[in-house]
Amino acid sequence: MRHLMNPLDFTVEELDALFDLANDIEKNPGKYAHACEGKKLATCFYEPSTRTRLSFESAMLSLGGQVLGFSDAASSSASKGESVSDTIRVISCFADICAMRHPKEGAPMVAASKSSIPVINAGDGGHQHPTQTLTDLLTIRSLKGRLTHFTIGLCGDLKFGRTVHSLINALVRYPDIHFVFISPPELKVPDYITDMLGERGIRYQEVIRLEECMADLDMLYMTRVQRERFFNEEEYVRLKDFYILNKEKMSLAKDDMLILHPLPRVNEISVEVDDDERAIYFKQVQYGVYVRMALILTLLGLA
Ligand code: CP
Repeated sequence: MRHLMNPLDFTVEELDALFDLANDIEKNPGKYAHACEGKKLATCFYEPSTRTRLSFESAMLSLGGQVLGFSDAASSSASKGESVSDTIRVISCFADICAMRHPKEGAPMVAASKSSIPVINAGDGGHQHPTQTLTDLLTIRSLKGRLTHFTIGLCGDLKFGRTVHSLINALVRYPDIHFVFISPPELKVPDYITDMLGERGIRYQEVIRLEECMADLDMLYMTRVQRERFFNEEEYVRLKDFYILNKEKMSLAKDDMLILHPLPRVNEISVEVDDDERAIYFKQVQYGVYVRMALILTLLGLA
């Protein structure tokens, strides 16, 4: 039995097979419409979500399976003090596979250690968000045809952003990737990440202004400043609109640069950018369903 806690749990070759399957699902959805008949997915979400929870549910329903779960810790027995370890033992009696989001880093890992069904980390605190990373990689591979040889800018909250941490971890395994980290000093990427890049000899730059690097980027991964990760509201208010990507800044970018965003967006991408064909963040959401379908099939041994 396999779980998914971190994008690195899959080798590059296994990821290629997963993405090939996701692309086949995209082209031939009817072939997979009954693949999970009789199987159930539990979504255990202790933190808010729109995309991740509903795309998991949409994925399982599109495979002919069924879904159950909770979307709020307050409506689960966690509110009475039940541990994640006990909850997953119970969920193992109800479902064949579980996607779990939790505000505490490592909670899905604790669940996996006590589970008799595959557990998927659907985001744990500021740590990892592996299925968002699978979504990002599938989007890039499908639209650019490769996961190698590009310069990617990551902009916004690089300190707390689990999508950013997961994506960097995954991309370092591909050749000739150059990172540009764009953040205010207060939200810069953690030292353990820059140390790891240094040890591996991977090129990176840290800049404060988007305008400094727009023209160099093949991809720009925008992120929101996350109110829920701040201890101090004043600090959040000071930093929340630090970056606003608008048409003027887009005019500095390459004609084929892609703009990704894990969403939800707040103000960091102006809605006037949505009609730019380089803005692919809503297409990215659709790839998230295909890759979660491929992941469910793979972890259930049905691929
Ligand atoms: N991208 C993402 O994780 O979105 P949700 O928080 O809506 O699931």
